[in-house]
Amino acid sequence: MRDKTRQTDLITGGMGWTSDNPHLRDHFEPVGDELDQADLPVTFGRIPDDLKGAYMRNGPNPLFKPLSYSFPMDGDGMIHAVYFDEGRARYKNRFVRTRGLAVERRAGRAVYGGLLSPVPVDPALVGEDGEPGLFKNGAFINILSHAGQLLALGEAAAAYEMTTELDTIGEWRPGTDAPLILGAHNRHHKATKDLYALDYLVEEPLIHVHQIDKVGKLARSFSVSLAAPSMIHDFVLTGRYMVLLVGPAVFDVEAAERGEPLLQWRREMGTRIGVIPLDGAAPVWIEAEPFFVFHFANGFEAGGDIIIDYVRHGRLPIGPASGDHQPPRLHRLVIDVAARRARDEMMADFPTELPRIDDRFEALPSRFIFTPLRTASLTLVNAPGGTFNAVARFDTKTGQVTRHDFGNRASGEPVFIPRPGAVDESAGYISVFVYDPVSRSSDLVLLDAQDIAREPVAVIKLPQRVPMGLHGNWIRA
Ligand SMILES: [Fe+2]
Repeated sequence: MRDKTRQTDLITGGMGWTSDNPHLRDHFEPVGDELDQADLPVTFGRIPDDLKGAYMRNGPNPLFKPLSYSFPMDGDGMIHAVYFDEGRARYKNRFVRTRGLAVERRAGRAVYGGLLSPVPVDPALVGEDGEPGLFKNGAFINILSHAGQLLALGEAAAAYEMTTELDTIGEWRPGTDAPLILGAHNRHHKATKDLYALDYLVEEPLIHVHQIDKVGKLARSFSVSLAAPSMIHDFVLTGRYMVLLVGPAVFDVEAAERGEPLLQWRREMGTRIGVIPLDGAAPVWIEAEPFFVFHFANGFEAGGDIIIDYVRHGRLPIGPASGDHQPPRLHRLVIDVAARRARDEMMADFPTELPRIDDRFEALPSRFIFTPLRTASLTLVNAPGGTFNAVARFDTKTGQVTRHDFGNRASGEPVFIPRPGAVDESAGYISVFVYDPVSRSSDLVLLDAQDIAREPVAVIKLPQRVPMGLHGNWIRA
């Protein structure tokens, strides 16, 4: 790893290392060049003239060869952005310049261990800011915009504020003296436009909920008690409620001190469904059989019910003994709040993760879910968990699945871009990075979200490979 262009702090020169870890090679192999390229070639179709904004995606992209690595728990955040204006597209990618990345650049090597396998840090490296601590906040999970601020997000960590040109401003302080600690998935309230964020504690059975107002200032924080310190990756926000599905993925610090895993699956505890009124009334908890959820597609109120569309895992799919679990599938949970009852059904019988909707319908009754899947046309060798090669459009009303199959190419999370002026659900485009293992190159593909099976709206050639990553969003100009 070399820094050829230090005067502008650009990181270039490739990675200079390889790894046998399947999540660090092939379509997951990180990239070590920060590039800018205008006028990207369009190899099929055309870019709609009226698209104005940027599709940005975050993902773990370790700069230095990791001491230990588990996907998707470790790494350095890298944002890949494709900006659209007047029928043209340009590309830019940048590392999120976290405090942890600064430590490792100073050391010229990886310093931190992975989340699942911590490594004691060298005391000689500890600077005035306390870094390196035990874990690195790589801010690699998500990127979203709130109150004109662009935030790169990790989990149970400070967010990093970025400029729209992907320069790192620093740890996000929404009018607060200290950086706010929050999770990777946060949700905007439909009516107030406030951002709700959740922070779980590892050592206490407690979460903090933060409400950041529409001008970007922390307006309120409150706490909710849990049965045990639990990992909670995402939540649902409706007009009146925050809803948590708290699986028994429990942090046990004492066990970790004995050399056992910090994060344990305590099946006997079951999953608890928490309905937390936003007006401060007491939470309602409903006990359910054990399952785990990373991601929700949507959740909304319908009469006295709360309807939640999500991807259900039979157990925590990371750590020891995670291989025996059933692949995750789309489910619908219907909560009768007054009766304190919930019923659940599987909606679609194909393994998936990273589901998305037309985000304009978040917290509103929505019909269509866009979600990755893996088809028989994927012949890629070394295709570990988290590899998909198609996008499904699932109709929750009829159960119909339509798909766009990229063949032997790896594709990521499908993100919805609204068509300017259109109001109907799914009137717009699906934006997805697609990697070709033969040419070792990537495209950004735009699909018609109302007819995803047909040929793409546009295929845009990128100047470098974009590794598989995590979450992205459409950032309006
Ligand atoms: Fe996530």
